[in-house]
Amino acid sequence: MKKIIISAVARNGVIGKSSGEMPWHSKEEFSHFKSTTLGFPIIMGRKTFDALGEPLKKRLNIVLTRNMNTKFSSPEVIIFDSLQNAYDFCSTKGFEKIFVIGGAEIYKQAMTSVDELLISYMKFNAEGDVYFPEIDLNVWEVKSIDSRNEFDIYTYIRKN
Ligand SMILES: NC(=O)c1ccc[n+]([C@@H]2O[C@H](COP(=O)([O-])OP(=O)(O)OC[C@H]3O[C@@H](n4cnc5c(N)ncnc54)[C@H](OP(=O)(O)O)[C@@H]3O)[C@@H](O)[C@H]2O)c1
Repeated sequence: MKKIIISAVARNGVIGKSSGEMPWHSKEEFSHFKSTTLGFPIIMGRKTFDALGEPLKKRLNIVLTRNMNTKFSSPEVIIFDSLQNAYDFCSTKGFEKIFVIGGAEIYKQAMTSVDELLISYMKFNAEGDVYFPEIDLNVWEVKSIDSRNEFDIYTYIRKN
């Protein structure tokens, strides 16, 4: 099972605001995110789920929280108390790939276990105080770059 981080990062490294609000709205990027993740499990931190407000359709929504007593309004959401437990669950279900969709806390922890990073670098700076973690180029190499109007999609794989 391939584990992939997917994120949209502004030119200044911002991915969000601690208030939970999205710092930008890009239909083009959202459409890329949707078509890439559709049909696969998406793993996210509790704060990202709170910011979304509801599960994303046609994907298995997995939320990580350290408080397993947390009650989510949506019955379709599955919760786990660790990234590893979420991976184990998905692998028993036979998924070909899973996506780690954020936020910063979860990206930071998942960097050591995922196989690929799929980063949309937006062609503008954004206001915010939540940042994507540093990508260590001793560990990761760029496999491909796909240019779109509002962003460039970099695919990183692990160096041998
Ligand atoms: N641009 C993008 O691509 C993108 C994507 C996603 C999110 N974002 C932005 O990122 C921001 C949210 O990021 P964030 O770093 O503040 O929060 P986050 O990573 O979404 O969620 C953090 C929460 O996840 C849970 N958690 C963390 N580590 C865990 C572990 N090892 N086991 C179990 N649960 C764990 C904890 O929940 P509990 O407190 O419930 O225990 C923690 O408070 C928002 O602004 C959002 O808009 C941007």
